[in-house]
Formats: sequence, C-alpha cells, structure tokens
Amino acid sequence: MTASLTTGILPLFLLLGSHVAQVSAWGSVGHQAVGYVAMPFLAPNALSFVRSTLGSQYSQSLGPAAPWADTIRSDDSYDWASNLHFVDAEDSPPSSCSVVQSRDCADGRCILTAIANYTSRVVDTSLSATQTQEALKFLDHFIGDIHQPLHVEAEALGGNEIDVTCSGTSTNLHSVRYTRIIAKLVDDDYGNSVTTWANSLADRIQSGDFADDASSWIECSSTTDPARRKRSVKDDVVGFLHPRAITPLECPLEWAQDANKLDCSFVFTYDQFDDLCTSSYYDDAVPLIEMQIAKAGYRLAAWLNVLFDGDTEL
Ligand SMILES: *[C@@H]1O[C@H](CO)[C@@H](O)[C@H](O)[C@H]1NC(C)=O
Repeated sequence: MTASLTTGILPLFLLLGSHVAQVSAWGSVGHQAVGYVAMPFLAPNALSFVRSTLGSQYSQSLGPAAPWADTIRSDDSYDWASNLHFVDAEDSPPSSCSVVQSRDCADGRCILTAIANYTSRVVDTSLSATQTQEALKFLDHFIGDIHQPLHVEAEALGGNEIDVTCSGTSTNLHSVRYTRIIAKLVDDDYGNSVTTWANSLADRIQSGDFADDASSWIECSSTTDPARRKRSVKDDVVGFLHPRAITPLECPLEWAQDANKLDCSFVFTYDQFDDLCTSSYYDDAVPLIEMQIAKAGYRLAAWLNVLFDGDTEL
C-alpha cells in the first residue's frame, strides 16, 4: 500500500500488511438513514417480510436494524465478517480511481461477494429465522457501506490513517466524513432527528431534487458485456438467482465504482490546513453524502422488491 495523495499531504501513518479493522462506517446515524429511506419504497411482500423478519426488536424497520453489522465488530465470534464491509480498491486517488473485482476482491471476501451471498441467503427458505434475520441485516448494512467512497478504497486504510481536524478536534478522515459531518448536518438541519432527515431524503426522491435521477439509480450498465447494455436491478438479481447465473451482481459493482469515483473527484482533494467541518469541505460534502444515502436507501428498496415482489415496483 503506497501513499499517493498528490497535494497537501498530511502525515500518513500507513500500516504495512493486512487491513486492520475499520471502525464507524457511515456511523450509526448514516446507516439508520439508509434503512429509513428504503421503508416507504418497499412493495407489499418486501414490506411484510421486513416487518416480520426484524420484529419488535427493531421496530419492524430497516432503520434501526441497519447499524447491527457494526455493533458485532467488537464480538470475536463475528471476526469472519470484518472484511465484508468494504472492497480495498488498489487504485491511486485522486489521480486514478477504479474498482476491479478480480484485483480487489481476489480472495472472494469483500463487500461485493457479501452482497451476493446475503442476496441468496435472504430468500433461502431452508435457513433458520436467526440466519434469515442476519442476512437481511447484513444486506441493509452493506448496501449502505458500498455507497461510501472510503469503503471502496484501499488508500490509507479507507482514510482511517489520515489525520484531519473537524471543528477544532483532531480525528481521522474516515471518522470525519462518515460520522462527524453527518452528526453536524442532522443536528443543524434536521432537528437532530434521523427520521426527519430520512423522510426529507425520501420526499426529495419522490418529488424533489432527486426525482429526475432516481430511475437511473436502479439501472446499471453491464460491466462485462462489451456493448455495456443497460441492465436493471431486476436483471441483476433475477440473473444471479437463476440457475444459469451470469456474472454475479453487476449493479453492486457499478455502485462501488460510482462511489469510488468520488475519491478522485472530491474525498482526497482537500487542503491540509482546512478544518473539514467548518470549511467549504463541509458544505461541499453534504450534498454528496445526502445523494449517496438517498441512492443507497432507494436501491436497497429496489433490491428487496425484486427479491420478494418480482420487480423493482418503483
Ligand atoms: C456468507 O454468509 C455466511 C453466513 O453468514 C458466512 O459464514 C460467510 O462467511 C459469508 N460469505 C461471504 C463471502 O459473505
């Protein structure tokens, strides 16, 4: 792993060797928002599956269930799941960004394979109720994580090793982007209520500034077909679950590539002297974060709708 930030290099304490456990992800609030955004878009069967599978423990909602996969990170019996939260793209932001499944997920244990795995498991009726609930909670969480630029990036351990300042406090880039900025945003603009934030994002998908683009969020172009034919979330899921499965799950790969592009266009382009939570970095980050959370929630709903209702129903 090499440092390749081109400008404003901060002291980077790059660890050699294997990836250490990353913490915090979107943070609990960001993950809950993804789940809450998905809820109003669920089709009838998907909604009743979600309600009965999650039960009262999670208020029958993808919102409260979404952070679970981070909470088990301190539990040794779930160590096997720690690498499933990300794909370590071996690119070099900000000059070059890419996610290549064969290069970056060579051992078959990354967020791309995990989404495939839990997509099959969530509809596998031979599994126990506990296993089915875990499959749903992992999908709820990983479809959130794959929309985070730093979860689709090996550089400096996904930003955990880059020291920055947020509102005068020293922290690291991963934590700033996914926890501190969201905390400030929800506090300043949404009365410190994650459901108010999520409802606003869902409204903007239905009839606001995201409405024009939302249908393109649930399409993807084939990454293996030379003609890059349009594929939908439905083609992807149905093609994957069908016995003659084609390349597993191209839409999540495209979502990862989409988020990874933000590493080159924004995330790794800050000025080392700015306070990332009070400078223009914050103002520029907010719309990107809101867009990524909205996309994740909408795509999560589309995914579950295809699985349980046979179509995206959106
Ligand atoms: C698939 O799910 C099972 C059950 O949670 C887990 O043991 C296995 O490690 C998972 N594999 C991947 C690649 O996600």
